[in-house]
Amino acid sequence: MSPLPVAIESPLPRIVGALCLRVIRPGDALPLQRLLAANRSWLGPWEATHPSGRGAEPGSVPLRPMIRQMRRQQRAGQSLAFVMVYGDEVVGQLTVSDISGGALRSASIGYWISEHAAGRGITPVAVALAIDICFEELQLHRIEICIRPENAPSLRVVEKLGMRFEGRRARYICIAGEWCDHDTFAVTREDVPAGMLARLTEAGIGVR
Ligand SMILES: CC(C)(COP(=O)(O)OP(=O)(O)OC[C@H]1O[C@@H](n2cnc3c(N)ncnc32)[C@H](O)[C@@H]1OP(=O)(O)O)[C@@H](O)C(=O)NCCC(=O)NCCS
Repeated sequence: MSPLPVAIESPLPRIVGALCLRVIRPGDALPLQRLLAANRSWLGPWEATHPSGRGAEPGSVPLRPMIRQMRRQQRAGQSLAFVMVYGDEVVGQLTVSDISGGALRSASIGYWISEHAAGRGITPVAVALAIDICFEELQLHRIEICIRPENAPSLRVVEKLGMRFEGRRARYICIAGEWCDHDTFAVTREDVPAGMLARLTEAGIGVR
């Protein structure tokens, strides 16, 4: 049963210039798998890993079953997975997870983009679009993003979005085999009455 007051219907794709944020589908498995395999050293330092050391290396397992699982989680109201498409190419992924209903109505966002597409401002705009979907369509109230203090490019993403620093969680997530501190950034609906994309646009930030 969905923890949300509304079922998670697949939101329509949202487009800004050459960027499209749309819900993941089974046909994305192959391009995503290729990207994950080609970006091992780029993504490795930031990827959550199983504390036991077990579990397959990301990019080494078939993604189609994982995408089916993501779609099941969407139907269960637990998470919502997107791909970032730039031009006609899938370049990264964004996931809204840990969706809580009731008195919380909150969720977390995580993301990655292929190294060859980095530095064009794609992720901040994609995150803004996802936050707007969360507030407008999922009726959520608070979105958070947790980032390792060493991850300067990702810290820059939340800086562009103007998200609020709420503190450091010690040894919060197991990353590349180590329990790592994470800084928490958040936005609530009241912070962006006209929406997060509007805030970015007003600040002159967009896809390059
Ligand atoms: C963090 C990440 C998603 C940023 O995405 P992006 O689409 O490149 O975001 P932006 O284009 O806004 O770039 C953000 C900053 O990254 C830095 N950057 C740009 N190009 C870069 C490159 N090729 N390599 C490293 N850093 C780069 C710049 O400091 C940039 O800030 P600027 O625009 O003020 O110059 C991306 O770097 C990434 O996927 N990293 C690996 C996975 C990861 O860290 N995920 C997030 C975990 S919390």
